[in-house]
Amino acid sequence: MDKPKVVLGVSGGIAAYKACELLRRFTESGHDVTVVPTASALHFVGAATWSALSGNPVSTQVWDDVHEVPHVRIGQRADLVVVAPTTADMLAKAAHGLADDLLTNTLLTARCPVVLAPAMHTEMWEHPATRENVATLRRRGVVVIEPAVGRLTGVDTGKGRLPDPAAIFEACRRVLARGVHEPDLAGRHVVVSAGGTREPLDPVRFLGNRSSGKQGYALARTAAARGARVTLVAADTGLPDPAGVDVVPVGTAVQMREAVLKAAADADAVVMAAAVADFRPAAYAAGKIKKKDGQEPEPLVLVRNPDILAEISADRARAGQVIVGFAAETDDVLSNGRTKLARKGCDLLVVNEVGERKTFGSEENEAVVLGADGSETPVPHGPKEALADTVWDLVAERLS
Ligand code: CTP
Repeated sequence: MDKPKVVLGVSGGIAAYKACELLRRFTESGHDVTVVPTASALHFVGAATWSALSGNPVSTQVWDDVHEVPHVRIGQRADLVVVAPTTADMLAKAAHGLADDLLTNTLLTARCPVVLAPAMHTEMWEHPATRENVATLRRRGVVVIEPAVGRLTGVDTGKGRLPDPAAIFEACRRVLARGVHEPDLAGRHVVVSAGGTREPLDPVRFLGNRSSGKQGYALARTAAARGARVTLVAADTGLPDPAGVDVVPVGTAVQMREAVLKAAADADAVVMAAAVADFRPAAYAAGKIKKKDGQEPEPLVLVRNPDILAEISADRARAGQVIVGFAAETDDVLSNGRTKLARKGCDLLVVNEVGERKTFGSEENEAVVLGADGSETPVPHGPKEALADTVWDLVAERLS
């Protein structure tokens, strides 16, 4: 079988050195990589490095090997084009269809999925020109990975760092696995909640649950790979931020409600994969609750938390918004699922059976997706990403 052909574009930013690791990950996992640096990128990492690591010739401009028509062939033959780092200048060129070197020509001739991993100073990333360029590219189905927050060049810290090469590679792997599918969530904003909320009792204790957040993160990653702008409202998962996703960290159910409602205001779909605590302690002790000699502890009084899924389903922020809930059941899975779907008022409910060894913390899942229209979609045991893709298939159907 032919190796998948990846074009790794590198534009001129200090993070170019990190693209060496990305390149390594591609070659070591059986991809045929052609590196196309810009002339500026070569100020940071030289052609010899790219050529040696990729095992392929490297050129920046359209005047080398003209008989092979490289400015057209490289893009036409590619199964994936990824540009890491993508500078603000490269985003602008890509958004406007400029073609003044080999990489920008390649972007115009490629008919395969394109992934851009921007890296720049926060001011440049936040500039309205850059925001509009990113929006234009995303509307066209280009996967623009959200930069990470952290140390930038020099002493600055903020948003604009190139995400970890491992995270970029993972996003590319997902895009490649879907093949030449149209990015069916391009131009859509989706909100995913993940993890388990923590309801504090005092400064050192909380009521929590066993949700790992992995299913929600898989939903966020797969939606980003299908072209969506993703807001991930994450409750204490300890998982690394997925590339290509805006992460809003929260603690309690009340904080999650606020964050979900805010993000849902302009969302096309909301998927509540989080395990939201149904109850919270009625009182929060500002100091640590101490044991008292000879005395039993005070009983714990709990109050109800808001039901976020029921609230956003009853009071939709936008007409046509698709809302998905999750339900973990131990018995009578389907009939309990149907009852819950009706009670919550959402469009789809992913029902999985929980029990010992099942679901919590595992990399795999098995479920049935119930539709308010009476549909029933079984998802066989497999990676959480496969279940996530089925959920997005059903959401995309309802959005179109
Ligand atoms: N959920 C929510 N807000 C809550 C509780 C749950 O938005 N306060 C959402 C979850 O994110 C999930 C769905 O509702 O998508 C199902 O949650 P579950 O806890 O199973 O439902 P309950 O209404 O608590 O039903 P029961 O406890 O009777 O099983």
